[in-house]
Amino acid sequence: MNKSILITGANAGIGKETARQLALIKETEVVYLACRNLAKAEIAKKELIHETKRDIFEIVIMDVSNTESVKKAVSSLKNPIDALIMNAGGTGGKTPEKLTKDGVTELTASNLLGHVVLLDELIAQNKLNNVALFASSEAARGVQKVGMKRPDLKENSIEEFVSIFDGSKFKGNFDAYQIYGWIKYGGTLWMGNMARKYPNIKFVTMSPGGTRGTNGMNDLPFLKRIFLKHIGMKLIMPLMKMSHSVEKGANRFVEGINNPKYKSGVFYGSKENVLTGPVIDQSNIWKDLNNETFQNNADIAIHAFI
Ligand SMILES: NC(=O)c1ccc[n+]([C@@H]2O[C@H](COP(=O)([O-])OP(=O)(O)OC[C@H]3O[C@@H](n4cnc5c(N)ncnc54)[C@H](OP(=O)(O)O)[C@@H]3O)[C@@H](O)[C@H]2O)c1
Repeated sequence: MNKSILITGANAGIGKETARQLALIKETEVVYLACRNLAKAEIAKKELIHETKRDIFEIVIMDVSNTESVKKAVSSLKNPIDALIMNAGGTGGKTPEKLTKDGVTELTASNLLGHVVLLDELIAQNKLNNVALFASSEAARGVQKVGMKRPDLKENSIEEFVSIFDGSKFKGNFDAYQIYGWIKYGGTLWMGNMARKYPNIKFVTMSPGGTRGTNGMNDLPFLKRIFLKHIGMKLIMPLMKMSHSVEKGANRFVEGINNPKYKSGVFYGSKENVLTGPVIDQSNIWKDLNNETFQNNADIAIHAFI
């Protein structure tokens, strides 16, 4: 069982609920809430202490879209952590296509680049003992029913991944709702590579599934947001087995780090055509996820920005 766990994006949504569930496990000794906004983190910490009756939460200020902030946060950790949950992310804020100073889009920075730096730094400083979990999405292999197309890469070359991460592949047609899946696909492949590179640590990629009641769609264009968040997620999608509660979404992360049945290098998510229920190895749906050359190329491409 993991005693100390760091969660990125822990002040809201699935990250916060994951922190709550972990604190209810008696073996958990400390949960680090890695958040970019101190005021929001303090409110979340207070609520979590109140709800769990355990004062085991520590705030770490970390903006995962800013690599300097990530490095500073890792240096501030006095003790190694047992588990890392790379949960921060979503559809990239108000300007998802804008480039950061590292040269990637904000969509890539908040979902992927910061987490790559975080994991690299933790490993380099011997500060990760057991397991790292990356929050991916079924969007990484396409979700036809909600109009998310499977990422349609031509070659899966290093150059192609670079063009996905810096947005140049989508010039003039940057639809964050679609490109989100391409970034999660790149992240999923990167995790596959990490699993082969570091056999002594477990690298689990897990989708929380279609999870309602979070802020994940707040930055989408108005009509898409209203439809998906308020009509689709709450009314239509539960009937189609396309959305479940935040408790269920977060529980996938808790199980992902603590349950030995989840294996290193595997991407777990919902069965085809649903976004809820038991998880399966997603390479049963899309073989590309296990392609080692594609995994290497995604890893090299994202490191080109560090
Ligand atoms: N909800 C779903 O249906 C679903 C499905 C598949 C995958 N996922 C994935 O699950 C994860 C959590 O999603 P959610 O629905 O819980 O989203 P959410 O409610 O929007 O919460 C996202 C959290 O990440 C934080 N965050 C965003 N950018 C950050 C940054 N640059 N640095 C630090 N923290 C940052 C947010 O902090 P602020 O409050 O400061 O913005 C917030 O705490 C995401 O990676 C998402 O892609 C969600």
